[in-house]
Amino acid sequence: TEVLNHLAGRVAIVGSGLAGLVTALRLAPQPVMLITRAELGAETSSAWAQGGVAASLGEDDSADLHLTDTLAAGDELCDAAAAASILRQAPTAIAMLESFGVTFDRAANGAFSLGLEAAHSRRRILHVGGDGSGAAIVCALVEAVLRTSSITVLTGFEVRRLLVEEGIVCGLLGATRNGTAILPTSRVVLATGGIGGLYDATTNPIGNFGQGIMLAARAGAELADMEFVQFHPTALDSPKRPLALVSEAVRGEGATLVNERGERFLAGEVRAELAPRDVVARAVSAELARGGRVFLDGRTALGSRFASRFPQIDTLCREAGVDPSCELIPIRPAAHYHMGGIATDENARSTLQGLWAVGETASTGLHGANRLASNSLLEAAVMGMRAAQDIAGMATVAPRRVRGIALPGPADVSAVRQIVSRHLGVLRNAGAIHGAIASLLQLAESEGPASDPAMVALLIAVFASMRRESRGAHARTDFPLKLAYAERRKMRLDEALEIA
Ligand code: SIN
Repeated sequence: TEVLNHLAGRVAIVGSGLAGLVTALRLAPQPVMLITRAELGAETSSAWAQGGVAASLGEDDSADLHLTDTLAAGDELCDAAAAASILRQAPTAIAMLESFGVTFDRAANGAFSLGLEAAHSRRRILHVGGDGSGAAIVCALVEAVLRTSSITVLTGFEVRRLLVEEGIVCGLLGATRNGTAILPTSRVVLATGGIGGLYDATTNPIGNFGQGIMLAARAGAELADMEFVQFHPTALDSPKRPLALVSEAVRGEGATLVNERGERFLAGEVRAELAPRDVVARAVSAELARGGRVFLDGRTALGSRFASRFPQIDTLCREAGVDPSCELIPIRPAAHYHMGGIATDENARSTLQGLWAVGETASTGLHGANRLASNSLLEAAVMGMRAAQDIAGMATVAPRRVRGIALPGPADVSAVRQIVSRHLGVLRNAGAIHGAIASLLQLAESEGPASDPAMVALLIAVFASMRRESRGAHARTDFPLKLAYAERRKMRLDEALEIA
């Protein structure tokens, strides 16, 4: 095992989506390592984001209205104070992104061009290049990182364990292209993304199965809201994996959802197709469960404008043999975003000394039981800024002496994926959840140290078993009602294993 002593003492940032890139850039000129298992910015959900960044910048908008929409979508489980403070920082986050070279689309009069997405009461989605926002933002930030000499980029480095001595972070253990390496450091920021790869149908990079959650959990950090997995209602239904997304912005432009009989089955909802995402995903699932297919119809609302407003989605549809300007787009729900994750405070600190978490792997309380569209890139940017500010304000501590441990083998997700897709999907019940817990425990035991995906899935199942109600993205057929009062749940891995 190689010990990278020449890099010891630097802040280690794991993951190169929006949250990790912002953290690294905002820590400059403090020396940091930006660690990524693929190439910089590649295979991140940020780079795949089609919607954009939600920010209350319209003349008819305010941070309070944005908060009202966020709390309503979150189904009374958001941390209102955390949400208010993150949403208030939206203008600062947008200005920060622009300072690093991101150019948001603007109208002819120079004002930001603002899109509408489900459950937003105002047009407030800033986008870049129509529907290629994530890729454009990540590309600009990667270029900024490459220009910043204080950032050392380690690609092809897959972190497998967080090293901790006496409850304090002291290093990282990972697999590199040449073998095994230890990185001594007393400050780690996890920005490793979501868990979509645990599901067969997902819009996320399939290599994302909650690695950050497991690094933190095995080291003793607290996790929050693990049961809340958001299913996007309109992934393009095709044999391709992962599934391509058809952005909510398409419905924002007036496209409708219809069943095989051409009926708009969401017409009865208050906001119809622009109802909160959990509501739409359940309605689509119910239609599919009846044996029919579901389609997005953009023919009237967009027609020949489709390709210019949504160039990337147009291409994805055409690759699947559908011309969205004049044909129906077949869709289905797919795992899209994890509201749960590593519990963090307003400065992105976890409960473990020396560990911060930002972006999707963290759970700040902004999203509650169901994230409002395009709030995730905003949260990643704001919390990346805050983590950097928090770390910059602290005295540097030399890492404690690192004790080497054996590198756990690479994880195999396929068996877990079958269990999770079957039992922990859009609709859940006690039988399915307990079946998942039993199978996952068995798998975790047989796989030993390589059981990270099984353990993340087990955490989701244990949290799901304890929430005996339906709220936001957590829908139970055996407990269809929402309790009058409920709280966010926080637990450590050892506590969850005890319950399992
Ligand atoms: C979308 O474009 O529909 C997704 C936006 C999001 O997940 O926030």
